[in-house]
Amino acid sequence: MIEKNLIVAFGGVSPEHEVSVLTAMQVMSALGNSTYTIVPLYITKSGRWLTGESLMDLSNFKELDTLEASAMSCSFVKDEAGRTFLKQQDAKGLFAKPRSFPVYAVVTAFHGSEGENGSFQGVCEMYNIPFTGSGVLASSVGMDKVKAKQLCEANNIPVTPSLDFYESDWDVHQKAILQEADLLGYPLVVKPCSLGSSIGVKKVDEEESLIEAIETAFRYDAHLLVEKAIHPLMEINCSVMGSTENCRASVCERPLGNTETLSFEDKYQSGGGADKGMASADRVIPADISDELTDTIRSLAVHTFKTFNAGGVARLDFLVNSETEEVYFNEINTIPGSFSFYLWEKNDLTFKDLMLELIDIAIKQHQAKNGRIRSYETNLLSEKAATGIKGLKGIK
Ligand SMILES: Nc1ncnc2c1ncn2[C@@H]1O[C@H](COP(=O)(O)OP(=O)(O)O)[C@@H](O)[C@H]1O
Ligand SMILES: [Mg+2]
Repeated sequence: MIEKNLIVAFGGVSPEHEVSVLTAMQVMSALGNSTYTIVPLYITKSGRWLTGESLMDLSNFKELDTLEASAMSCSFVKDEAGRTFLKQQDAKGLFAKPRSFPVYAVVTAFHGSEGENGSFQGVCEMYNIPFTGSGVLASSVGMDKVKAKQLCEANNIPVTPSLDFYESDWDVHQKAILQEADLLGYPLVVKPCSLGSSIGVKKVDEEESLIEAIETAFRYDAHLLVEKAIHPLMEINCSVMGSTENCRASVCERPLGNTETLSFEDKYQSGGGADKGMASADRVIPADISDELTDTIRSLAVHTFKTFNAGGVARLDFLVNSETEEVYFNEINTIPGSFSFYLWEKNDLTFKDLMLELIDIAIKQHQAKNGRIRSYETNLLSEKAATGIKGLKGIK
């Protein structure tokens, strides 16, 4: 039987590096006894691509230097037939030779930055290999809070009133920006445009703390979003799985926090059991809300998933005014923590089943893409090379 090598890609240059390692460990352990052969692809905090058995054991991540020394550099390469391999650049151990693994599919288990913002997805596209989750477009728009809101607004998905500006605007038009913020009305929430995990997010009640929050957020991002705070706030998340043409919503969850704004600690460190990643955070599943509100959010989640042209599994986060039950899109997570398996368990889908379905979707989307005409047979260059084109005279 041909080995189906499943590349589990994780880590990356991202503030959510550790969370990604946890998600990847869950994936590798769930698929350990499947028909796939797991090949880890770990991107270090400095951006090195590594592979090797040692990357499959969480306990080795306690000592990153030792781990890096035990693993092997690797990269994608194509052979003459156009097939893509994950190729070791060196080998560890006496007599060992660098190995090459033909790629069946890639599980993208990154969180944040280049692993989730479309960059890594673009690399997979270039190598023409199937990969789980959203493509380049949804991944990159989803990572940009301002562009995501604009896309929603254009598609009848409600968003909170807000303003956005760059550091260069702030330097010159501070007074006008503060006036505009005042018009929106306090309390306000300041957010870096393209980070996650609540980093740099701050709720403020008056101008002085607004200025302070803005200056802090500029340490993380040159583009900021200031939005009207929803109060009283209830957060409801819903996961959607499939493709734009065929997708379904999970049950809803209501995440709980110690403070009104969910912090990084609330999300990852409060519920103990760090091995469960996002699943360790405190939450109510299914969300304790009315059937009507549940239906509204589930159908809005599906509509949003399609609007972004997302794929695989995504988690849609909504802000709800708990008094009026008005619902606002907050963000799309194109690679949700732990692939939001805990929302699918309620639909009797185990973590393993979820991963198998994601791989299946990836393969189908890849086949659909490759079934289309992607290049033309005529070679324009052979003609131009014979006749020449204007402006190239004398260039050899
Ligand atoms: N408009 C808002 N009103 C009230 N609270 C908000 C608002 N926007 C965000 N928050 C709070 O801040 C948290 C983090 O904001 P979010 O936009 O989800 O950023 P991140 O991408 O860092 O998760 C949310 O989970 C919520 O608790
Ligand atoms: Mg969030």
